Amino acid sequence: MTEEESFEVTPWDVEGNVDYQKLIEKFGTKRINPSLKKRFFKDAGEENLYMKRDFVFSHRDLEKVLDDYENGEGFFLYTGVGPSGPMHIGHIIAFQMTQWIQEKFDVNVYIQFPDDEKFWSRDVDYDDIEKFAEDNLKDIAAVGFDPDKTFVFKNTEYIGHMYKAASKVAEKINNSVASAVFGFDSSTNIGLNFYPALQLLPTFFEDKRCLIPAGIDQDPYWRIQRDIAPKFGYKKAAQVHNKFVPALTGPEGKMSSSKPKTAVMLSDSPEEAKDKILQEAYSGGKQSKEEHREKGADLSVDVAYQWLYNLFMQDDERVEEIGRKYENGEMLTGEIKQILGEKLGEFLKEHQRRKEEKGDELVEKMMYEGNLAKKMWDKKIQL
Ligand code: TYM
Repeated sequence: MTEEESFEVTPWDVEGNVDYQKLIEKFGTKRINPSLKKRFFKDAGEENLYMKRDFVFSHRDLEKVLDDYENGEGFFLYTGVGPSGPMHIGHIIAFQMTQWIQEKFDVNVYIQFPDDEKFWSRDVDYDDIEKFAEDNLKDIAAVGFDPDKTFVFKNTEYIGHMYKAASKVAEKINNSVASAVFGFDSSTNIGLNFYPALQLLPTFFEDKRCLIPAGIDQDPYWRIQRDIAPKFGYKKAAQVHNKFVPALTGPEGKMSSSKPKTAVMLSDSPEEAKDKILQEAYSGGKQSKEEHREKGADLSVDVAYQWLYNLFMQDDERVEEIGRKYENGEMLTGEIKQILGEKLGEFLKEHQRRKEEKGDELVEKMMYEGNLAKKMWDKKIQL
């Protein structure tokens, strides 16, 4: 972090209290404005909660994606997750967004598991990475992708189909760009130096425009993609960026599996999750009941309210009413946490049921057996 900035966002870490407007300016992305939202919802045939509440807040070329859709050219989706631990609520957002777009626009989805990147960037060995990947894959399956239009792959397994094309991408990225964009220095291992070529490659899996729903921390990769895509005769990848689900413990940083107190894991039982909310969730309410009744809560830092508003409560009127009453002191922190606890518990129960009942079968389809997967194993990626 430099002195004038109080936050830092990189693909590996998020620190401080993120100012999303500043991030848009720094990364050179665009805010999703009301007219673009309206057009997106119209084409989708439905409103999307995350975009409606500005949790998915920023984009690049989303209007071009909609042009391509409206004129029949179409587009495809790409996202990913690094298997370095069990997944938490924050990790699942971009996948839910991706699944929603797939369902509404009926398009292909590619999901990368960069097991190699986690080996290079974290202190974990391949045995652990394997175990995390196995579990994470079932979480992804529970999100409900179309198994015939979704291809999920681990880099170490699919590499033979990607390597030649990735080497061509790698040739276009020099060390000064890599260090400027990612902050690589002389202590960075050379595996990580090559990795950006692999994270970019799926944006070239089809000739159509690629749309990437992901957290805004992944943006550095796409800046490079947009520089080099025209050199290969491909379209620049478009993105929709989500904000970070704040850590339970407060507005600083993001929820992170390496800091368990900050996170609700997708594997937490509904009761565990409710307990975490009650005990850990940072409150914007006042210390004493009297003071709270008089002054009310600061919604902007209240984790339970933020989660409800951004992620769990579809009903606009209800969430606004709760916000109003909490802000003017009519409602207490405990009540907000209770409402969130119920919603979160229902979500986890349903997620875990789908993971348990259908996980193995769907993973098999999305990795090997489904229509898109079979097609991808039959070809080598060309650039
Ligand atoms: P990873 O595993 O760090 O994160 C996976 C996805 O989750 C998002 N994310 C969050 N979103 C909201 N709140 C949070 N607290 C939070 N923490 C993480 C990330 O932005 C990301 O969308 N290198 C990537 C894996 C990858 C990838 C991709 C991601 C490979 N190809 C294409 C997106 C698109 C990684 O390690 O993500």
